[in-house]
Amino acid sequence: MGRLDRPIQPARLPAGLKVWIGGSSPPMEDYHSPKPPHLLARTNRNGRANRMAAIKPLIAGNWKMNGTTAALAELASMEAGYDQAMRVRLNMLVCVPATLVSAAATVALNSGVTIGAQDCHAKPSGAHTGDISAEMLADAGASAIIVGHSERRTDHGETDEQVRAKAEAALRAHLKPIVCIGETEAQRKSGETLAVLKRQLAGSLPESAAIVVAYEPVWAIGTGLTPTLADIAEAHAFIRAELAARFGEAGSAIPILYGGSVKPANAAEILAVADVNGALVGGASLKATDFLGICQAA
Ligand code: 13P
Repeated sequence: MGRLDRPIQPARLPAGLKVWIGGSSPPMEDYHSPKPPHLLARTNRNGRANRMAAIKPLIAGNWKMNGTTAALAELASMEAGYDQAMRVRLNMLVCVPATLVSAAATVALNSGVTIGAQDCHAKPSGAHTGDISAEMLADAGASAIIVGHSERRTDHGETDEQVRAKAEAALRAHLKPIVCIGETEAQRKSGETLAVLKRQLAGSLPESAAIVVAYEPVWAIGTGLTPTLADIAEAHAFIRAELAARFGEAGSAIPILYGGSVKPANAAEILAVADVNGALVGGASLKATDFLGICQAA
């Protein structure tokens, strides 16, 4: 068996992180945390009490094309703020540029913070100059990969099919794919939002339910604009129903993150919306004070 065929278990990652690196089907309990009863009292669309245990919130940062080694000081501050109480309450992930994955994984050692990447090639290796495979990112210390971010769909013309192949690649490398979907402003204005989400989910999701989905309305990214809470609730309920239809019970345990202009000031109300299981944070994840402010609201 070749090296790339073996499950990758980076020795330098902290213990207790099997939720991210332990294989394509992490145990269910890793996704769940005890929650106060009022947070469990949500009802499903039929008005019945939701009997599923609450999904442990995931607060994920996406540094995009920002950060050199100097930025690792911010990461260290994030880790310092990720205290025991916060660890119990939420998972913290920071998706850094590929150039920083290895160094960030070393800085994050034993902190409980996990490190992710922002894209990967669909193939494990080969003649693809400049590309980076999921296996390489796993080897560098990543435990998750964002795939299908709207900036890649726009800048690089990535299709749902390509996004799906990248999500499968992440799973093949025992990494957690964070599959991004979301409508443009024009699509929202013309009432196509749910149809777009349905199409992107159908085309971009891998076979396995061992994934995270991020709903990021394109028009809310980096603009300071956010949908109304009712619009977020509608989108997330729709995504949850689609996941349940596709994956059955396992679909109810998939974390659905909201992304787009999440800040400390609006995090609490967004994270309180039903079926919002965390946030994918761009600009506000670059500064430890802002990122921790969002975590405190979770
Ligand atoms: P902002 O938080 O800067 O709006 O970015 C969101 C995002 O694209 C995260 O992936």
